[in-house]
Amino acid sequence: MILRLSDFRFPDSIARLYPDNPDGPWVLEIGFGDGRFWAEQGTVERSVNYLGVELSGVSLLKAQRRLKASGLSNAHLTKMPAMTLLRSVVPPQSLARIVVNFPDPWPKAGHEEHRLLRRPFFGLAASRLAAGGEVWFTTDHEEYFEFGVREGRESGWFDVELTEPPPATLRTKYALKWKDLGLGAQHAKFKVHSRPVVPGLAVEGDSNDLPHAILTLPSTFDLKDFEKTVVRHGSTTVVLLDAYRAARRDEWAILAHVEEEDLTQEALVAILPKEDGRTLVKLDRFGGVIVTSGIKAAVGAVTNLLEARGATVHTRAY
Ligand SMILES: C[S@@+](CC[C@H](N)C(=O)[O-])C[C@H]1O[C@@H](n2cnc3c(N)ncnc32)[C@H](O)[C@@H]1O
Repeated sequence: MILRLSDFRFPDSIARLYPDNPDGPWVLEIGFGDGRFWAEQGTVERSVNYLGVELSGVSLLKAQRRLKASGLSNAHLTKMPAMTLLRSVVPPQSLARIVVNFPDPWPKAGHEEHRLLRRPFFGLAASRLAAGGEVWFTTDHEEYFEFGVREGRESGWFDVELTEPPPATLRTKYALKWKDLGLGAQHAKFKVHSRPVVPGLAVEGDSNDLPHAILTLPSTFDLKDFEKTVVRHGSTTVVLLDAYRAARRDEWAILAHVEEEDLTQEALVAILPKEDGRTLVKLDRFGGVIVTSGIKAAVGAVTNLLEARGATVHTRAY
């Protein structure tokens, strides 16, 4: 089943995601491409609960068709950056395995920082693996292989074994592509021996408790001359991108882009007239946004913007 960011809890649990198999081992595949690996491997590991994460929406649909054709239940797919999923959705000490087959190698000098298998990944992965859990890494790219093995070893959380990949790994789309070019795949298993504590996303309160402010706008109020505004709070960046006016009513909405840790969200902050003549500024429910401290900061940034334009703020609840 395809799950959206807003379908998850933060963190989630095996029992909620796989109610028919809550005691089964949980395997995460990062960058599953067209889904060939689990469509084959899943048929020999039917007791496993599978979660696949991808950035490509087209891949998501292809993989969904393959998993369905293989008759695999207990398999979820989602579209988001892997680090966000690992940190925010996967609870500590819960995964039996993390599989990364043929990750993007970022071969150009100076581009290593874009690679997935770096020390921050290994620290986070170690924190989310259960006792004895493993990261399986396969690539055709010799330099990335050496780099990944070194980063995993030097992270200090894993024992590394260089071994043969499971057969299904050698039949993924990219495995076959590189094989046709005469390149061989290398495989490493990183077995976790100790685990750091890596906190998840700070999700604020109940989602019913939406951040808001109440204010009185000046009698002549307009946002026609709105300009993009950037506000930074520590590691959080809020960009107020644009302002929109509702066609029929005296309502506005501001589109905010919020970057925090490894989570990026876009949210609409609504500016709504109340019956008592005051104005409510609140996070709009549109789009299933997760209420984080960054999202609260976006409501705060809109409130501050209105205050700078002459509004009197009565309540700040964010
Ligand atoms: C080279 S392809 C390999 C696909 C597949 N594993 C295979 O062997 O055919 C790498 C895949 O990783 C995905 N990817 C890259 N960065 C990612 C990230 N941060 N989170 C999730 N998926 C990612 C890409 O969209 C792409 O589909």
